[in-house]
Amino acid sequence: MRIVLIGFMGSGKTTVGRLLSKKLKLRFIEMDDLTLQKSSRKSINEIFEKDGEEYFRKLELLVAKDLAKKDNVVISSGGGVVMNKSTMNYLAKNSRIIYLKTGFGKIRKQVMLKKIRPPLFKSIAFAKKLLILREPLYENFANMIVNTDNKNVSNIVEEIIYGRK
Ligand code: S3P
Repeated sequence: MRIVLIGFMGSGKTTVGRLLSKKLKLRFIEMDDLTLQKSSRKSINEIFEKDGEEYFRKLELLVAKDLAKKDNVVISSGGGVVMNKSTMNYLAKNSRIIYLKTGFGKIRKQVMLKKIRPPLFKSIAFAKKLLILREPLYENFANMIVNTDNKNVSNIVEEIIYGRK
C-alpha cells in the first residue's frame, strides 16, 4: 500500500503521516527531507534563496521519481508538488492520494508555531493567494479529501483509515 498526503504548508501532513504510518505499520517518508538531501544546501530555505524555486521543483521531481518504486509507505509530500504534473504522476503511481484540506485560519496558526517559516509563506496575503490558487489542484489530484478543521490528529487518522463518519 502507498499513501501520499498532499496539502498546503501547515495542513499537518507530517504529524498525520507519522501517526498514520504507525497505525498501518508502514514506513513514513518525509519528502522534503529527501529533497534537501539531493542538494548541497543546509535547508530548504537556503535552496529557495540561493538556487530558486524552479531548481527546488527539479529536485522534488527527482525525489518523486525515486519514490515511485517504493511500496508500503506513507509519504508526506511537499506542499507544492501539485505545481508539477510530472512530479504528481510519479507520486500517484499505485497510490492513494489524500488531501488534507485545511482552512487558512488553522494553516496560519500551525505555520506560526514552526521554528522556521517556510520560504513561500512570505506574507499572510501571499500565502492566502497561493492557497486559493492551489486548492483546485489538490482537489483534482486527490482520491480522498479530509477536512481537517476542528479535528485533532487521531480524528484525522481514523477518518483516513475507516472512512468518513
Ligand atoms: C512548499 C512547501 C514545503 C516545502 C517547500 C515548498 C510549497 O513543504 O516543500 O518549502 O511550495 O508549498 P511543507 O508543505 O511540508 O511545508
